[in-house]
Amino acid sequence: MEKSRFTIVSNRTVATQTHKLVLAAGDPDLLVGGEFVHLLIDGFYLRRPLSLCDREPGRITLLYKTVGEGTKALASLPEGTSLDVLTGLGKGFDPDACRESALLVAGGLGAAPLYLLCKELKAQGKQVIAVLGFNKADEIVLEDEFRALCDHVSIATLDGSAGTRGFVTDALAALQPSWDYFYTCGPAVMMKAVCQALDGPGEASLEERMGCGAGFCYCCTCETVSGAKRVCQDGPVFKKEELLW
Ligand SMILES: Cc1cc2nc3c(=O)[nH]c(=O)nc-3n(C[C@H](O)[C@H](O)[C@H](O)COP(=O)(O)OP(=O)(O)OC[C@H]3O[C@@H](n4cnc5c(N)ncnc54)[C@H](O)[C@@H]3O)c2cc1C
Ligand code: FES
Repeated sequence: MEKSRFTIVSNRTVATQTHKLVLAAGDPDLLVGGEFVHLLIDGFYLRRPLSLCDREPGRITLLYKTVGEGTKALASLPEGTSLDVLTGLGKGFDPDACRESALLVAGGLGAAPLYLLCKELKAQGKQVIAVLGFNKADEIVLEDEFRALCDHVSIATLDGSAGTRGFVTDALAALQPSWDYFYTCGPAVMMKAVCQALDGPGEASLEERMGCGAGFCYCCTCETVSGAKRVCQDGPVFKKEELLW
């Protein structure tokens, strides 16, 4: 874990209640590792965890929904604002677990960390199928970016305003994709349904409310087959067979 200052390069709306935040590090060579960062927003005691959506030396991209006071305050910050950021947090998806063909299943902004994984899988020459679920068309993010990389992309919306009407599990049933390993991120109820629907190995990225974000306070635990684990330190990504939903 590292504590650094990053400067906002851009912070703009990309979909309904959704912002894309690009941050530059003080060190232009810094390549941020881990699965998520923990942002300190002025006026808030607790940091806010956000997944890495993209990274390059000296720069990271995050996508966030404005759901509460912290993310609304974040959305109001202009370019040039300096932010205190903890980096290098969390155990991310394992691209090596997939032999040849990966299935990515996202719900909402679960698409953000799966996009970074998608880039890593394609860099390894693997086939990638992505199924992305949203409530409605104006909440869709990263569709063009996934289409530019993936062998196939399916969209599902709950109201049917784009792609298949219904849940990602409906899109999966319609697609019948072939894959050897799956990766999922999104609301817990969606990931549970995905893990139950998919007959094969995979991993899921969990979300829990966090205090320290770095393994000290134990406020983010989840139950696994080998006892309680800290989502921030032992996860947020866990193998399907480890999880007790
Ligand atoms: C590992 C991880 C990665 C995440 N990645 C993303 C992402 O890429 N994009 C995105 O939009 N959201 C992501 N979230 C959820 C995001 O952290 C919350 O939406 C955000 O903290 C809400 O803050 P708020 O002040 O607007 O909401 P409030 O409800 O006012 O927050 C109150 C407190 O609850 C916490 N909290 C509220 N909702 C959540 C939540 N769903 N998960 C964890 N803590 C929460 C806040 O951090 C804060 O401490 C992630 C969460 C985790 C745990
Ligand atoms: S948030 Fe403190 S241990 Fe996970």
